[in-house]
Amino acid sequence: MTEQTRFQLSESDLPKFWYNVIADSPVTPAPVLRPDTLEPVTPDFLSVLFPMELILQEVSTERYIQIPDEVREIYKLYRPTPLVRARRLEQALGTPAHIYFKNESVSPAGSHKPNTAIPQAFYNKMAGTKALTTETGAGQWGSALALACNFFDLDLEVYMVKVSYQQKPYRRVMMETYGAQVFASPTDRTSFGRSVLAENPDTPGSLGIAISEAVEVAATSGGAKKYSLGSVLNHVLTHQSVIGEEALKQMDMAGEYPDVVIGCVGGGSNFGGIAYPFLRENLKNGQRTRLLAAEPNATPTLTRGTYTFDYGDTACMAPVVKMHTLGHSFVPPGIHAGGLRYHGMAPSISAFCDAGLIEAVAVPQKATFEAAMTFARAEGIIPAPESAHAIRVAIDQALDAKAKGEKRIILFNLSGHGHFDLSAYEKYLNNELEDYAYPAEAIRAAMLELPQVDLPA
Ligand SMILES: Cc1ncc(COP(=O)(O)O)c(C=O)c1O
Repeated sequence: MTEQTRFQLSESDLPKFWYNVIADSPVTPAPVLRPDTLEPVTPDFLSVLFPMELILQEVSTERYIQIPDEVREIYKLYRPTPLVRARRLEQALGTPAHIYFKNESVSPAGSHKPNTAIPQAFYNKMAGTKALTTETGAGQWGSALALACNFFDLDLEVYMVKVSYQQKPYRRVMMETYGAQVFASPTDRTSFGRSVLAENPDTPGSLGIAISEAVEVAATSGGAKKYSLGSVLNHVLTHQSVIGEEALKQMDMAGEYPDVVIGCVGGGSNFGGIAYPFLRENLKNGQRTRLLAAEPNATPTLTRGTYTFDYGDTACMAPVVKMHTLGHSFVPPGIHAGGLRYHGMAPSISAFCDAGLIEAVAVPQKATFEAAMTFARAEGIIPAPESAHAIRVAIDQALDAKAKGEKRIILFNLSGHGHFDLSAYEKYLNNELEDYAYPAEAIRAAMLELPQVDLPA
């Protein structure tokens, strides 16, 4: 066993293919439905929002999809990302477990999100799109797409959830530095935004509302603008598979294989990115790695949500998918992991969780920041509050291994750094952070507004 700490691949090891888990899926995903008719969507309907190449990837059953050279060239700015053995964290915990993390925070935007932003901008450029619209919660996705649009010379409008826009002015400046226009959502630029503001002028906004605004702008642009989503959809999770494919090679360099792989889940893209190549090894090659999705107690989509059809956005303009959901009208509590405040979940993750192929754990906010502090002081990296959920679960795994005297190999994805989240850290240090209880009543109310889907058996 090597004493190495960082496991670094060379540029030539950068994956040439994305992995599409749908090819190996033992469960058949439910069809995606039109929000207006609740009939299965057609490529025509989706083409208002997305370029054809991404639509084809969305419905593809091919196991591997070639990564275009233009995308690999830009990936080389930060990929392959390092795999790090967290030896100092292991020592701090006094655990016999070996803890590894894949460090996606080294991308220029600070998270895993450019892994899909770059190809999405590329395919749009190839299709002749002039401008994109999108939403952003914490600002990580908006920054990543702003970076990618800048490289491919596309205009970008970002609808940023108002509470984040106010809490994180530097994320906005970062997006503007790359050339994007950023608006605090709800805005008066869209008819949906105006209707929300008329009803509740002081609303903090939500990801569901911001998605509705970005979709409305693209859908009413007469084809000039397309819409881009940073999580949830199959093609997004496919693009993120570069994380797990690299990690497989790097674990091999380390001479170990993980017993457990952990990622935090908002819409599911970084978890799918690290976990699906390992799920393939479970399904095809007899491995038995546990795949753990870490979510906040305050938005417990997988652990407490219902597995059913729901709209992807608040205004019921985005497609309807079968997923674990808290209800599209649910406005989540203002926890500091803004990127995990989404009511739904990627359909594939929902289906695999339902089938017992992956597991989910919910963790409270304060314990999550406590884990972030332990990690920051041991390893030196200040994690994004979202990623800290994975760290909480990884530390709990390491402590459980210690209690049982087991050598457990743990791998988690560090999906981003927290350099723009220091006001949340300040609140933690000043003992001002709250734990939000599971908002049972709000979720029950939101569940009454689910679409009534009646598909032929
Ligand atoms: C750093 C970070 N990690 C995780 C997430 C959650 O998204 P996903 O589940 O798509 O990975 C986000 C979302 O914004 C994020 O910014």
